[in-house]
Amino acid sequence: MDPGEPLESGGASGAAPVGTDRVVRVDAGEWGWTWAADADGRLHQVGLGPEGARAPVEVDPVWYPDAHPTWGGADPLRPPALRITHADGTTTTRLRLDRVERQSVGDDETVSVCAFDEVFNLRVRFHARTHRASGVLEQWVEIDHDEDGPVTLWDHDSIAPTFLVGPDAAITQFGGAGWADEWAWTTERLTPGTKVLDSLGGIQPHLQRAPVLLLEPNGPTDEESGDVVGCSIAWGGNTRFALDVRPRANEELRDLRVRAGANPLGAHYVLEAGDRFVSPTVAWTWAQGRQQLSDRFHRWTRDRVLRDPGRTRPIVVNNWESTFFDFDEARIIGLIDRAADLGADLFLLDDGWFGTTHPRDDDDAGLGDWDVDRRKLPGGLEVLVRSAEARGIRFGIWVEPEMVNPDSDLFEAHPDWVIRDGREPRLHRNQLALDPLLAEVRDFEVGVVDRVLAAAEGATYLKWDANRPVTDPGSRALPTDRQSNAWVDWVHATWDVMARVARAHPATEMMLCASGGGRTDHGTLRWFHEFWTSDNTDPVTRVRMQWACGHWLPMSATAAHVTAWGGRPLPFACAVALSARFGFDLDLDALDADGLAVCRRAVACARRTQDLVQHGRLRRLVSPVDGDRSRAALAFVSDDRGRAVVFAYQLEESTTEAPAIRMDGLDRDAAYTATVTDLTADPVELGPFTGAALADGVLGWNLTEPTSTRIVELVRSDAADPPGGGPGGVSRSATGTAP
Ligand code: DGJ
Repeated sequence: MDPGEPLESGGASGAAPVGTDRVVRVDAGEWGWTWAADADGRLHQVGLGPEGARAPVEVDPVWYPDAHPTWGGADPLRPPALRITHADGTTTTRLRLDRVERQSVGDDETVSVCAFDEVFNLRVRFHARTHRASGVLEQWVEIDHDEDGPVTLWDHDSIAPTFLVGPDAAITQFGGAGWADEWAWTTERLTPGTKVLDSLGGIQPHLQRAPVLLLEPNGPTDEESGDVVGCSIAWGGNTRFALDVRPRANEELRDLRVRAGANPLGAHYVLEAGDRFVSPTVAWTWAQGRQQLSDRFHRWTRDRVLRDPGRTRPIVVNNWESTFFDFDEARIIGLIDRAADLGADLFLLDDGWFGTTHPRDDDDAGLGDWDVDRRKLPGGLEVLVRSAEARGIRFGIWVEPEMVNPDSDLFEAHPDWVIRDGREPRLHRNQLALDPLLAEVRDFEVGVVDRVLAAAEGATYLKWDANRPVTDPGSRALPTDRQSNAWVDWVHATWDVMARVARAHPATEMMLCASGGGRTDHGTLRWFHEFWTSDNTDPVTRVRMQWACGHWLPMSATAAHVTAWGGRPLPFACAVALSARFGFDLDLDALDADGLAVCRRAVACARRTQDLVQHGRLRRLVSPVDGDRSRAALAFVSDDRGRAVVFAYQLEESTTEAPAIRMDGLDRDAAYTATVTDLTADPVELGPFTGAALADGVLGWNLTEPTSTRIVELVRSDAADPPGGGPGGVSRSATGTAP
């Protein structure tokens, strides 16, 4: 219980609430925000940003607008973050501070601001949980009531902070045209008015827009400097960022209100007395420079989100792009052999292995029937698992437990298990989604994974896919006047299934996939080890996608497989996949000797560098999303600065002068040996170079051909040998000049 304390320096300046007498400070580590209750218990934001946990700043918004526009007198009309129709039909809410609770765990604390409506029996709790090791703050809202009937939540945002922004304030959103265009990078200047960035479809909304937002309140930033706010809605359903920009009279500065949470469009929530609405958690930070933003999100994702974050992820060989549905036992065993020959860690059998009365020979049948198709695989999954084990590699298996083809035994037995409204449900990829609000469906989905892992006894990896959005929303688990609740309840029900699966199979590594990167949010990822970034594996596009999603997620979780997509040179495709969680989805049987040699070099490189890529510090050096977008360079540096790997990519023809690669994060005085390869030949040793020379750009660009690459490994002279025994077959450069 926080008894409240007087505001420092005589209260907020400008149009601060008169009579402010109680403050709540949340110190997120190098930034924070401060709320204050005025004498009547009305809550205001009085500080936000680097100084926000200490000093008030000149903003005076109601900190969580509750649909009472004249509140406090000085507040402009605002779109509400919380909009409720109460049981008696009243459409406004007036919250007052009740108490503040603080709960500490180690260095961190959860601050809960408890408020209540001044007339109705309705309570709102605002929770803020710090993660000071990273500087990311998690916030969510809980609402309950004892009114004389249900209340309707029309808007139910998780946060609604207000920023004072400059005329060049900008936002970046991450989403493109849908399938195969995830993580497209769009930056725009903020102008007065309301801008809504939302997503729909429930099951794979991130195909439209990843639920993250980058805000530069004072204009463009770079890696090292400038105010940058990053915000992630940890929600496996539809999300909304609503940005409301208000000019100030005779000032360049503007007020920006950012509301973030579950998208309420079509998803107003009818809350019974005694029930509790829990909003998505929004994780956010205020950083100086984009490097710090990523450092923070990576650290927080590792500490609070991913399963087994310290475990180095395997080199995966997947069969999807090489076989699609068309394979048999001999073909798969052949691919397992090739994967083992190459030195991969794991073979992943994708879609198409199941369906008996309705064989899964295409995407139009069999989904839901999780028995092995013995026509294709007469020895069952066991034979494949044993074959992988005999070759010393692991086995993984694909499932899509939330879905069904109408052409399946499951649908014939349970046509009423699907998500649908009063119409005939529309097919998407010839399939329907099962309704997880039905307890029998949740049990079935958990059972699918149990059954499949039992049939593939010894399998240690599972790819969880979901290949359609919700288009005809409805659930027979809900009464007719509660149908809109489904959008929120489906997320919790699906998470319940995923949590049960993760608990039942703690040793199984799990990949999250939804038609590519349709599910990559920090909420759903809690039950997974990694995600499938996109079905688009054209390495030119992938460089930009991985660049974008690397702002929020560590590369240990970002799966990247070498494929034939785009017909790019194999060394280039390998080099792009090597800068994330590396694997192949290539017809290994079809490789000629040169191709095989390139893949072998790539696997050897992965062995030497995967600990850096997955657990080291990402440094972005040359951007493929700014300027002429023709080049990219990024590096990963070990915590002790003893080792690093640099990836440089010439993506397209350049129209600008080549940049130097200015290596960041090394010891300036130490000497580093450098080995360089483009994967067409074994690495060549160069240098040594001092950390200072590397920082000053001694590594020239030296790439001109589109889709060419260079990988430079740096080892400080006193550092231990890298894993994998050092670059095999290293030869000394004839000239000894910089690569
Ligand atoms: C979509 C996924 O993104 C692909 O990798 C593959 O697993 C297919 N589904 C299989 O249907």
